[in-house]
Amino acid sequence: MAPRIKLAAGVSVVMLLTGGSIVGAAPAPTAAPTLAAAPDIPVANVKAHLAQLQSIATANGGNRAHGRTGYKASLDYVKAKLDAAGFTTTIQQFTSSSRTGYNLIADWPGGDTNKVVLSGSHLDSVTAGAGINDNGSGSAAILETALAVSRTNYQPTKHLRFAWWGAEELGMVGSRYYVNSLTTANRQKISGYLNFDMIGSPNPGYYVYDDDPAIEKTFKDYYAGIGVPTEIETEGDGRSDHAPFKSAGVPVGGLFSGADYIKTSAQATKWGGTAGLAFDRCYHASCDTTANINDTALDRNSDAIAYAVWSLSQ
Ligand code: TRP
Ligand code: CA
Ligand code: ZN
Repeated sequence: MAPRIKLAAGVSVVMLLTGGSIVGAAPAPTAAPTLAAAPDIPVANVKAHLAQLQSIATANGGNRAHGRTGYKASLDYVKAKLDAAGFTTTIQQFTSSSRTGYNLIADWPGGDTNKVVLSGSHLDSVTAGAGINDNGSGSAAILETALAVSRTNYQPTKHLRFAWWGAEELGMVGSRYYVNSLTTANRQKISGYLNFDMIGSPNPGYYVYDDDPAIEKTFKDYYAGIGVPTEIETEGDGRSDHAPFKSAGVPVGGLFSGADYIKTSAQATKWGGTAGLAFDRCYHASCDTTANINDTALDRNSDAIAYAVWSLSQ
């Protein structure tokens, strides 16, 4: 049996050995498409964005809520980072409860715009506090993932888009506005919507949305690779910005580290927590500050986001 050389993309090339010389040589490297590896997202960078969002809340009456100055300042912070990194940014304005709201959309130039991989997080907090876990965490993680796309000059086959939604806390108002603003043709170009809402909970569970099988598998593969047990996210259906996309027929997925309570002792054993303990006791409270973040969960989930964005776009 001739020896087989396994290439990165899973292609085997049979090497024919005749009198010690190689007759059939491996094809040129360009002939074997290899998958670009996702970068490790530096959690320190994600935390630096959270520190900025905390400062913005502190300087604006303690929150970053819809229709308040802290929301617009948060949006301006994220937009400036993306503009400097070469993204094409668009602000989409809407009105809700007599106040002006904004979505921020950032497109990475290139890729097939008929196949869009869209990652989103809500950027608004409740009025009670700074909203650092809910949802500075998702907002900062997708911002740092977008900046990693720029740093590595990643040129995927598909087109990458990132979005920060306004007024999620009023009932997913911003994301619904965006979905409703799309033509049918443009909606059908979204090959997947990935949602990240609360990914640094202090007593984290590792919930993976079970909506689209391919997206779900991508996230589960990542956690399996680092040996972290996951939980299927079903209870959150309708509780975050993936809902308007799902209703419109877009394949959705995402991550969540928990808001309310660790329900079973089996979950507690799995995650090293205690049944009955809140995943995030500061959920929608004034103590949702930079102190309300589990760095390990934030790091793992940020890396999982980059893994999914890379894997699903090539
Ligand atoms: N979206 C909710 C909020 O901001 C948080 C939340 C609760 C959630 N359960 C969820 C998000 C399940 C995603 C999935 O208040
Ligand atoms: Ca990391
Ligand atoms: Zn919330």
